[in-house]
Amino acid sequence: MILLLAIIYFCGARMGAQPINIPLETRNNALVLRVADNKDVNLIYYGKKLSEAAEYAGIPELYKQSGDYSGMLTSAYTPSGSRNLVEPAISVTHADGNNSLDLKYVSHQVSAVANGVSSLTVQLKDPVYDFEVTLFYKAYFNDDVIEQWSEIRHKEKGNVTLHKFASANLCLKADSYWLKQFHGDWAKEMQPEESRLTHGIKTLDTKLGTRANLFQPSVFMVSLGKPATEDEGTVMYGSLEWSGNFRIDLELDPQDNLRIIAGVNNYALDYSLVANEKFTTPPFLFTLSDKGKGDASRKIQRWARDYKILDGKGSRLTLLNNWESTYFDFNESKLSELFKDTKKLGVDLFLLDDGWFANKYPRNDDHAGLGDWQENKAKLPNGISSLVKEAQANGVKFGIWIEPEMVNPKSELYEKHPDWVVKQPKRDEFYFRNQLVLDLSNPKVQDFVFGVVDNLLTKNPDMAYIKWDCNAVIYNAYSAFQKNQSHFYIEYVRGLYNVLAKIRSKYPTVPMMLCSGGGGRVDYGALQYFTEFWPSDNTDPLERIFMQWEYSYFYPAITSSNHVTDWGKQPIKFRTDVAMMGKLGFDIVVSKLSGNDLQFCQNAIKNYNDVKPIIWHGDQYRLSDPATNSVASIMYVDEAKSTGIMFNYLVNYRYDAKSTFPIRLKGLEATKKYKLTEINLYPGSNSSLNANKTYSGDFLMKIGFNPDVNARRTSVVLKIEEAK
Ligand code: DGJ
Repeated sequence: MILLLAIIYFCGARMGAQPINIPLETRNNALVLRVADNKDVNLIYYGKKLSEAAEYAGIPELYKQSGDYSGMLTSAYTPSGSRNLVEPAISVTHADGNNSLDLKYVSHQVSAVANGVSSLTVQLKDPVYDFEVTLFYKAYFNDDVIEQWSEIRHKEKGNVTLHKFASANLCLKADSYWLKQFHGDWAKEMQPEESRLTHGIKTLDTKLGTRANLFQPSVFMVSLGKPATEDEGTVMYGSLEWSGNFRIDLELDPQDNLRIIAGVNNYALDYSLVANEKFTTPPFLFTLSDKGKGDASRKIQRWARDYKILDGKGSRLTLLNNWESTYFDFNESKLSELFKDTKKLGVDLFLLDDGWFANKYPRNDDHAGLGDWQENKAKLPNGISSLVKEAQANGVKFGIWIEPEMVNPKSELYEKHPDWVVKQPKRDEFYFRNQLVLDLSNPKVQDFVFGVVDNLLTKNPDMAYIKWDCNAVIYNAYSAFQKNQSHFYIEYVRGLYNVLAKIRSKYPTVPMMLCSGGGGRVDYGALQYFTEFWPSDNTDPLERIFMQWEYSYFYPAITSSNHVTDWGKQPIKFRTDVAMMGKLGFDIVVSKLSGNDLQFCQNAIKNYNDVKPIIWHGDQYRLSDPATNSVASIMYVDEAKSTGIMFNYLVNYRYDAKSTFPIRLKGLEATKKYKLTEINLYPGSNSSLNANKTYSGDFLMKIGFNPDVNARRTSVVLKIEEAK
């Protein structure tokens, strides 16, 4: 629970004739709201903090933009149906059928929430209708991160329909705006595109319901004036903390302001709000940096570790997964061998993937069994409990895969509870991976889904890990439970969060991986319940360099589960080195590894155990971009700037492609001396680098270091240590 430590400022009916300015400052930035004479609340500034707060008042008069006919282009929460004619943040039909809304300032309050965290709330009210909105801005001082959301309620005689209900409504001012957005598909997550925004509205959205990010995640960046680079330029990052349909409108308005309106997607969603019910939107998270994309990403990564992801400052388990080594084809004796392999490899945990359950319709492929969460007696006659014990007897922990939101039509669950399934009563079923989605808006389904996890963990208190998958999107959206179908999409996600919150209140620490056939559900709404996510089923290390690079702008390495598999053509060293840039795991047939490959992996895991605190908790610097260079280079440095690790990969396989020039390091202490040692050497190979030399941080950051990456040395990992 958030404790309000002190109320610093409260302002209500005492306003005088002068406009009130409300600055919300973080370490480097300020977001300034202004209450106009007519009590409209506008966002007059979001940019670098000024030394004297009083000077924010002078900003608006210096902008000689063309006329704002309505006076509402920079509204802090733009209503519709009155004089506003641009994209609204909120749109309603009142109890009497009227569609107009106006929102006027009532009061605001600034509070200290916790050390380094403050909150600004602004009360708005319609002068004609008994309808209110409270805007919340939660500011994380050190990281320059703000979360914004809104609460909507009314006391009208009858229900009010909410047609649109954004979380945040921002306004940026610059000569030009450059949007970096991401798109994808299965095995093609986080493909970036950067383009200049033109006048009108650009919308980023999803309507997929579950697995919502399959084609597009809600994360984006907007550079101001010119596309920001890694270390230069002003850039804002944004993302909605929501695991369902989202919609982000970026409207370049007639005055050349960039209006950003972000929230739950109102597609097929009209919310009927009863009097006195509080409707809370999910937080939209954003940050701003004038030092480029790298700085902005380190702010978000720090914020995520400190405040958002489950156990962000903690540790993680390395693992061996059996998905790609067995698929559905395993039994107890095969698993016994895999437990031994897990130990031999030197990782912490064995993760049993899909295929362990269902009897009437056994889960031997992806056509049957989903929903029937009883151990398959043919494969596992002694049940999960005996596996947990046997794994432990082999000196490793045991974890398990589930996909509890889903059902195969060929399942006992479907036969017993057809009304629990999302499908149109009068239409043919349409499947995604041969399965359908359970109606999590139904509390009975929520209990069932909670029960899947609860049964596993109560029967097996030593179960150490859960991989929660979600492979289908929602087709034929219809809930047999909901009286108002227009509520379905929002109630689904609320149901999902109810279940996750219940799991976390009973099992606060069990590590859980957020998986959705790859990265179909990666967002901070879900990540507060999960310790890590599965970025993609595409584990080809060459592809992963690009994908992990893009994910890392928004998510810290500790959350990125990277497994060494047989995807791609790269040798085991390359695959392992790439997987080490996050939370390392393996999904290979250990018994088929050559002696040298096995020895390499065992040593690499030892090295990883040594450097993982730097990767998980240190600052990440992107040194050489795989999209524009033959060599990709990424480094992590600990807080004390005394130890770091630098990963370098050849990503261009044309003739003589190599690290021609030294690569400049970042984030070191200029006055400290460092030595660089190559680690993760393949058995029998020697480093071409001189490990005895030391360099000043100044040298390494101004001149750089050449890791000597070339066709014979396609992957080079360097440990950076302060030489004392
Ligand atoms: C999709 C996941 O992304 C895979 O890792 C694997 O768990 C399969 N589902 C299992 O069906």
